[in-house]
Amino acid sequence: MRVLQTIREMHEASRAPKRDNRRVGLVPTMGALHDGHISLVRAAKARCDVVAVSIFVNPTQFGPSEDLSRYPRTFDRDCELLAQENVDFVFAPAIDKMYDNRATTWVEVAGLSERLDGKSRPGHFRGVATVVAKLFHIVEPDLAFFGQKDAAQLVIIRRMVRDLNFPVEIVACPIVREPDGLAMSSRNAYLSCEERQSSLVLNRSLREVETAFKAGERQIELLLQRGTRTIAAQPEVRLDYFEIVDPETLEPAVEAEGSMVAVAAYVGTTRLIDNLLLKE
Ligand code: PAJ
Repeated sequence: MRVLQTIREMHEASRAPKRDNRRVGLVPTMGALHDGHISLVRAAKARCDVVAVSIFVNPTQFGPSEDLSRYPRTFDRDCELLAQENVDFVFAPAIDKMYDNRATTWVEVAGLSERLDGKSRPGHFRGVATVVAKLFHIVEPDLAFFGQKDAAQLVIIRRMVRDLNFPVEIVACPIVREPDGLAMSSRNAYLSCEERQSSLVLNRSLREVETAFKAGERQIELLLQRGTRTIAAQPEVRLDYFEIVDPETLEPAVEAEGSMVAVAAYVGTTRLIDNLLLKE
């Protein structure tokens, strides 16, 4: 496994296999890797000849009062885990390599970027779309792997790829959870023991909506009430949003069947998200 720190090195490293018609897969991450990330790596290994994983805590997707400075950084351990998975390249650029301080160009996926997390994190998805577009240019992957956990991010990246004609196939991977249901996240490391317990309410609220749906409830308002009430019963958890949306447009769903239930909430100061699809 090679660890590459410059754009030129990464670009050249992925050019070589492409010349031999070998498929290059990219897994973009911000490091602090867990089994959710590793599931993306395995999906990439299964479908590609060469796999690159980027580790870059992208400053442009953090708001001024967000957790950029304390975001967990576990680079050596991340590299060990990726070496065990037989990853070919780790791309870990320094901030000033990724962002020239004279840069003024952004990728903005209008509309979608203001929904769900974009509503409470203004500018977040602009930072995500911009860094992912840059990674796509640097690595030129044939396939890129993203987790369903960040459902809005996935929709936005798909739209960007379509709108800007990136020659890359986006592969969505299912949410990996802890045995008790909590969606894995690098931010779970922030949680105290009690907060870790409280955080289970996110998944529980989704499951309750799903149970009602499976019992035949189709009224979106009533399904939403189920979810928000579950969260409200846990006063130490502060709801950011609880929505039932069309999984493609992220607009409020008109029909429960095929919709996505998505929740974001603060447990202490930690913002967590989760979602599931309602399907008969
Ligand atoms: P990060 O939070 O490190 O996540 C990297 C990838 O792992 C994302 O595609 C995310 O959806 C996926 N992932 C995280 N937790 C997961 C879980 N429990 N199950 C399945 N997949 C999971 O998302 C980002 O980084 C950044 O925004 C990035 C795309 C790298 C751009 O900076």
